[in-house]
Amino acid sequence: MVAHPGLRLQILPMHVDDLPAVHVIERQSFTTPWPPQAYRSELESNDLAHYLSAWLGGRIVAYAGMWLMLDEAHITTFAVDPAWRRRRIGDRLLMALLDLAIARGARDATLEVRVSNIAARRLYEKFGFRPIGIRPRYYTDDGEDALVMTTPPFSETALTRRLDRLRAWVATLPEPDENGAADEATPAPGEGTGVESVGLAPDHAATRREMPDRGRATEADP
Ligand SMILES: CC(C)(COP(=O)(O)OP(=O)(O)OC[C@H]1O[C@@H](n2cnc3c(N)ncnc32)[C@H](O)[C@@H]1OP(=O)(O)O)[C@@H](O)C(=O)NCCC(=O)NCCS
Repeated sequence: MVAHPGLRLQILPMHVDDLPAVHVIERQSFTTPWPPQAYRSELESNDLAHYLSAWLGGRIVAYAGMWLMLDEAHITTFAVDPAWRRRRIGDRLLMALLDLAIARGARDATLEVRVSNIAARRLYEKFGFRPIGIRPRYYTDDGEDALVMTTPPFSETALTRRLDRLRAWVATLPEPDENGAADEATPAPGEGTGVESVGLAPDHAATRREMPDRGRATEADP
């Protein structure tokens, strides 16, 4: 992990030149990674697709993507370099992705996440996503269920306030540091994540085009 001190985390639209670095993180983050060609085709041929790369010190440390389908943002991918996790890069990137969705007129956002992926579930819960159902045996590598999560409408007051608080807080975060997490210095604003306490609705209809199976996220946190 090499980053130059004093440089800022920058979140920019993903470019095809980013794909080699994206693929390195992809392979470190998922057991069945999307091939670089899948990302290339997203960037070059899918008008619905919006992908972001997070840069720090001249290298990509995270990326995320979504499809904007009519008024729904569907998050298709999200990963932080294992060497840079727990430094609030995920917080900043998700804030940027949701702000992009809102700016483009999305009404709400949805995603699928492995039931066992507590780190990602907590991140999403923090930004207002709630479980609405299960896609049984969604992940073909091991048959794990996917949890379907969605936000309330972005126009809903409680979510607007939550995102306003998070946006203001993200703006105050120190730049990510090689030496460790900034968690203690910058606790997130209020409200527990409550992953375990939220009940699950019946199965959610699978109506959208699916991307290749993501496989199990690997946990490489310190
Ligand atoms: C999930 C992931 C993106 C989080 O990125 P990150 O940069 O480490 O996250 P941050 O440091 O910004 O933390 C943001 C929030 O995520 C949650 N979180 C992150 N790592 C966590 C962990 N190991 N355990 C529990 N919660 C965790 C927390 O809610 C945290 O906020 P809090 O500390 O105020 O509670 C990262 O672990 C990752 O890339 N995992 C592999 C790929 C993946 O699972 N992608 C999602 C596919 S749906």
